[in-house]
Amino acid sequence: MTVRIQASLFWSDAGVVDDPSAVSFAKLMRLASHDDHGGRLLSEWFHRFATTPHSERALPAQFIDDVARAQGADPSSWDLARLPFVVTGLHNRIDLAELEAMGHCGEFRVSVASTDPTLQPFHMLFLFRQPLAPDDTVSGRVTCEGTARRWARLSTLSGQALEDALRQAFAERLTREQFLMVETVEQSLSPWEWRQWVKAPSATALPFVLENPPLFQQLDVERLNAPGALRTDFLSWMASNAALAEARRLPLPERFRPQSIRAASGVPRQALSLAGLEAQVLTLHPLLRQQLEVVGCAACHTTDADFVQTRADRTISPFYAKELEARARHLEALARGEAPTAPFGPLQAMPLLPP
Ligand code: HEC
Repeated sequence: MTVRIQASLFWSDAGVVDDPSAVSFAKLMRLASHDDHGGRLLSEWFHRFATTPHSERALPAQFIDDVARAQGADPSSWDLARLPFVVTGLHNRIDLAELEAMGHCGEFRVSVASTDPTLQPFHMLFLFRQPLAPDDTVSGRVTCEGTARRWARLSTLSGQALEDALRQAFAERLTREQFLMVETVEQSLSPWEWRQWVKAPSATALPFVLENPPLFQQLDVERLNAPGALRTDFLSWMASNAALAEARRLPLPERFRPQSIRAASGVPRQALSLAGLEAQVLTLHPLLRQQLEVVGCAACHTTDADFVQTRADRTISPFYAKELEARARHLEALARGEAPTAPFGPLQAMPLLPP
């Protein structure tokens, strides 16, 4: 079966993304929150941008203070549908399936952009887990083939039948139980910045707020490049893991990862320095630095993309267009029960690498 991207992998047509009964920013905040509204969580979250020790950004907090002036001091009474955020796309990330151990079938994601003239550019990505279904395990082995077959089957439908099936698929994916986290990429203040936001215990009246964990697979280039104990630790760890790292199969430990990363427009990004690593390791693994960089937020969003992958006008980066082709072939293989496993970072066979 041939997977069609616009039926099984990525949806950005107005009929879907502008239909609040299917998806909306207000609905996403409802699902992320404990109170089925999300106003209070949103207020805490946007204020948090200004107080995290690793980076302080005032604009999201100012934006939410303006909302309070317009809609009242109690965030739980705000009408979140009136806020200037548009859904830019729905993304099937079954390629992130974890087939080892008792894993999962990847993620379902919704991207959202600000249309506010001041809070700009400002993009969010809401992540939901795709859990294992009973037919995703065959003879005790996780394959995700049941879930893959259901996504792939959408490619055989069209018209009203496809619309109805999509509506049901989205409703199954967008639930409070499956909500994982939010990611942001924004330039409310120069330079651009990436963060992840996960539920964390709270000192406020809320049961949880959103906080920044160490960024997934993003190295803390600035701190690692500086001489000292962390750099020594990193280089000796790299010396014994270079092959896996160059193949993009190596999970990067938290101690080497920052809670936010930045890259400026028009200025070359600071490259990771591997100086001091044995010459033999560098000769054996000539693409080690670039492969280590491209699994992180900043390099992947700037190498074959202009900081953003799904733009506010719902067009996509060159990187994402090629990635979708690779994801289509990957979904077909999953649906055939072949249990292919993806590396970290790009799925496409020959991604453009950072300079
Ligand atoms: C391998 C490349 C790659 C890496 C690494 C990566 N992203 Fe993305 N990002 C994408 C693609 C492609 C999309 C489109 C949605 C999708 O495919 O999940 C995206 C979408 C986004 C969006 C929605 C706005 C947009 O640009 O479309 C945000 C926010 C985001 N990513 C944040 C992050 C953060 C934070 C990290 C690091 C923890 C990160 N990304 C790592 C490729 C990447």
